[in-house]
Amino acid sequence: MAPRKIIIDTDPGQDDAVAILLALASPEEIEVLGITAVAGNVPLELTAKNARIVCELAGHTHIPVYAGCDRPLNRPLVTAEHVHGKTGLDGPVLPDPEMPLADGHAVDFIIDTLRAHEPGTVTLCPLGPLTNIASAFQKAPDIVDRVREIVLMGGAYFEVGNITPAAEFNIYVDPEAADIVFKSGAHIVVMPLDVTHDALVTPHRNDAFRALDSKVGHAVAEMTDFFERFDKEKYGSEGAPLHDPCVTAYLIRPELFSGRHINVEIETQSELTLGMTVADWWRVTDRAPNAMFMGDVDAQGFFDLLTERLARL
Ligand code: RIB
Ligand code: CA
Repeated sequence: MAPRKIIIDTDPGQDDAVAILLALASPEEIEVLGITAVAGNVPLELTAKNARIVCELAGHTHIPVYAGCDRPLNRPLVTAEHVHGKTGLDGPVLPDPEMPLADGHAVDFIIDTLRAHEPGTVTLCPLGPLTNIASAFQKAPDIVDRVREIVLMGGAYFEVGNITPAAEFNIYVDPEAADIVFKSGAHIVVMPLDVTHDALVTPHRNDAFRALDSKVGHAVAEMTDFFERFDKEKYGSEGAPLHDPCVTAYLIRPELFSGRHINVEIETQSELTLGMTVADWWRVTDRAPNAMFMGDVDAQGFFDLLTERLARL
């Protein structure tokens, strides 16, 4: 079967970095048409730089990286240096990128790429706030029907929030953008905290990254060593939750995940619950299903896949 053509929209972020590496290590299943950076974990200038650092780490400097929106649609930017460090990629010491940013705005790349490819052949993989995606849908409504699928990391239901008691970070940063995307009518697969909090980099799993004894293996181990501090302290968890790589792993082995096709709406009015993904998991409303909301992951199968693929880089 031909590899799935994707655009990765991202705010690296150590977990974004691992998601990008997994995609680049899997050419049989995934063809990365381009990477679009968005402001999120750290400001845009850093996410656009970090995306290029990761491409160079993987030896894939031919991948075009575009800078996108530097703030949410209608709100000031909220960042997460407390989780990802000042650079957004704290942990390993990695060289500044030599590859330049691609010319043009990320939103225009998303629009142009969807218009240039056959309808239903390009998948969007947002790993950060949905500002670029929503901006593209607003600027060019005709592209929505051309999207094969949106496979995104964001939201939470049983797991509740990680940046507020009610909201997960990616949705919280730009709830209006998320509302546009979830109401767009595009086919959406959601990897919420309900799933990603089970994808924990335990010491044994981190040792397996190190045992690859490669530049990539050591960098990933050092990224997760840094990234896990916040979650271990807050949740007492066994290690870093690899949120974003769940998106890439789904493209390679969807059977690792299970969930329900349900209605998911975004809270955009209440300050108390702003950015909450109100997932009708028990189907108690008559609101039409609009997303495949994942609830379970085969965590060991996920790490076996991730480690096997990282060994290729
Ligand atoms: O809440 C987790 C999400 O927020 C991940 O995508 C992480 O990279 C941050 O963007
Ligand atoms: Ca991210």
